[in-house]
Amino acid sequence: MENLHTTYLGLKLRNPLIAGSCGLTNSLSNIKELAKKGVGAVVIKSLFEEQIHIEAEKVIKNNTDGVSTFSHAPDTILSKRIYDYDEAYSYIYDFAKRNTLGKYLYFLNEAKKNVDIPVIASINCVSNQDWHSFSKKIEETGVDALELNIYILPSDWRRSGEDNEKIYYDIIREVRNYVNLPVSVKIGYYFSSLAQSIKKLSECGIKGLVLFNRPYNTDIDIEKMELSHGPIYSTSEEFTHTLRWISILSGHVGCDLSASTGVHDHKAFIKQLLAGATTVQIASALYKEGFDVIPEILRGTSAWMKRHDFNSIDSFRAKLSKSNLENPAAIERVQFMKLYSGIE
Ligand SMILES: Cc1cc2nc3c(=O)[nH]c(=O)nc-3n(C[C@H](O)[C@H](O)[C@H](O)COP(=O)(O)O)c2cc1C
Repeated sequence: MENLHTTYLGLKLRNPLIAGSCGLTNSLSNIKELAKKGVGAVVIKSLFEEQIHIEAEKVIKNNTDGVSTFSHAPDTILSKRIYDYDEAYSYIYDFAKRNTLGKYLYFLNEAKKNVDIPVIASINCVSNQDWHSFSKKIEETGVDALELNIYILPSDWRRSGEDNEKIYYDIIREVRNYVNLPVSVKIGYYFSSLAQSIKKLSECGIKGLVLFNRPYNTDIDIEKMELSHGPIYSTSEEFTHTLRWISILSGHVGCDLSASTGVHDHKAFIKQLLAGATTVQIASALYKEGFDVIPEILRGTSAWMKRHDFNSIDSFRAKLSKSNLENPAAIERVQFMKLYSGIE
């Protein structure tokens, strides 16, 4: 095997392949298996702010004389009716919070004790409420870093881009004030000026940005005439969007870049590194191909490095980032002109 060592968020990794946060990183046996198969690090399934609210709703539901007070609550963070019970709710919310967080902290502790690769915790925040104190407790488990999974869908036409972005900065500031852990932020691509926003985020004292989270998407079932869910897993063609942005941003941001979405084999893995990624995260490939995809990616990468005479990741990383391209405009091309695509 060639030398695949790298540094991400200030942590030493045996290689840049990371098991991204997903349902498979939610079990100790899986985490041990992922480490055994060779990943450089693992990001634990996110603790969702929303999950705590749902737990609180469940407790309230079970304590209202069998009457399902909130059974028709929409699938949002807080049902509106819940505010009628302000005091009771805040008591129960506190209980649910301690309970849900307690389970997560226990799991992080176990994960850390059982593998010798870096373990990265992940929390999904939709507000800056509570996260600073949660983060402190997460730090105390001994995990190596914290990934903030923040995804604001800018669907509220009353909120400006600035309003939405402020949430990111507020969360990052709060968390950074409380922990010494390296912090990374995982984002989607809904920013009005993506390159500028990412640059600004990268200069907020975080150590890494994960580009991009692939959101849960909705679809429409035309027979039942109702909403269903879109494809849960990415396909191997989906890597190009991330590739473009890693290439554009590499060398221009103040932190590491971790590529996420659509990496299913060693070719896509190598492409993200050539574009400038510090590390690459995979999730769908683990579900679709199984954990053996890890040694396959690592072996394929080693063989490719050998063929091209590269003896370390650093010797080829960012070789094809925008700044290093002879024709940088090519990475920004978005129109199908026949001249470039060969298609009318
Ligand atoms: C079933 C499933 C669960 C996921 N859960 C989380 C999560 O809890 N937190 C998170 O940050 N990302 C989560 N993700 C997103 C993945 O980490 C990843 O960013 C996304 O799937 C794109 O990468 P991929 O193409 O390798 O799947 C999940 C993805 C899947 C498929």
